Amino acid sequence: MNPQMELQESFAREFSAVGDSQALEALRVKYLGKNGFITQALANPRAGNATPEDLLELRKALNHLKKNAGGDISRRGEELRQAEILAAEQNAPQYDTTLPPRFERGSLAPITLIQREVEAIFERMGFAVEDYPEITDDYHCFEALNIPPFHPARDMQDTFYLENGQVLKTHTSAAQNAIMRKYGAPLRAIFPGRCFRNEAVDATHDNTFFQMEGMMIDADISIANLIYFMKTMLSEVFDRPVKVRLRPGFFPFVEPGFELDINCLICGGEGCPSCGHSGWLELCPCGMMHPNVLRMGGIDTDTYTGFAFGLGLTRLAMMKYGIKDIRDFNSGALKTLRQFVG
Ligand code: DAH
Repeated sequence: MNPQMELQESFAREFSAVGDSQALEALRVKYLGKNGFITQALANPRAGNATPEDLLELRKALNHLKKNAGGDISRRGEELRQAEILAAEQNAPQYDTTLPPRFERGSLAPITLIQREVEAIFERMGFAVEDYPEITDDYHCFEALNIPPFHPARDMQDTFYLENGQVLKTHTSAAQNAIMRKYGAPLRAIFPGRCFRNEAVDATHDNTFFQMEGMMIDADISIANLIYFMKTMLSEVFDRPVKVRLRPGFFPFVEPGFELDINCLICGGEGCPSCGHSGWLELCPCGMMHPNVLRMGGIDTDTYTGFAFGLGLTRLAMMKYGIKDIRDFNSGALKTLRQFVG
């Protein structure tokens, strides 16, 4: 029998005995691998004293065998793979999907809880809740807020720039211009959001935190309106009447600008270690919107004035829930984060 016939028979015999993909792979290597019988026979056909014509025929026959064997192996491989998947599925443990879950349910993060609470309060007072992207540009984050390039106020908000010149928003004020352009006056809106700054992280500073900005624009809006809305909101959040006071504060987008303090909730204003014995806690910068900012937002400053505030939502959550370390918020520290219920 010539070598090609021998190979064909032995391959056929062994092929029909293959029962799984491992054995099939072994067979492939044995016949078609680098040192496989068919590969070797093709590289070095032994045919006694065959003529060149015989050799040519033999090569042809071997190539034919190689092609058929390869086809048989890949077809059988696919069949075996399918059968093996089916078997694995049938042998997998069976689950009773009607059983109650054995894992613990998750909980809302404290920031989400406080954000929803403040949103609900402002919605009852006629404010729209607006969303704004976390990536914005220099114009919205700074220039439209009366902070020109090289203004020293930019130093306080060192931040992360993208390669295309865009910027991660450093404060929710970045949305003011877009919201004025969207609604025009009169306008009442709040816009919560995640903010980013290049901060040295410690117990009270993080590079990622939440604010809730608010704006009210109408004819005859004054500081009295600002105080009323802030006091109402804070009294609801803390479930008791709070006193507020305004101190002068500088922000280029408001004039006049303020720091709004509330009376210390721990000592009620007597003075204690929590409030540095002053009786007051700094909570929310705010002010009357600067005419430049209103004008850049397309608002007619002959008719309209407005107030704006930038509530530190993360800070408010820390105060409301007594969270001492800001790093807990982004740490995934479930033991801390799970304790708060809405
Ligand atoms: N955007 C300011 C900051 O993050 C906070 C702020 C101050 C917002 C005064 C305001 C405002 O709307 O009126 O530092």
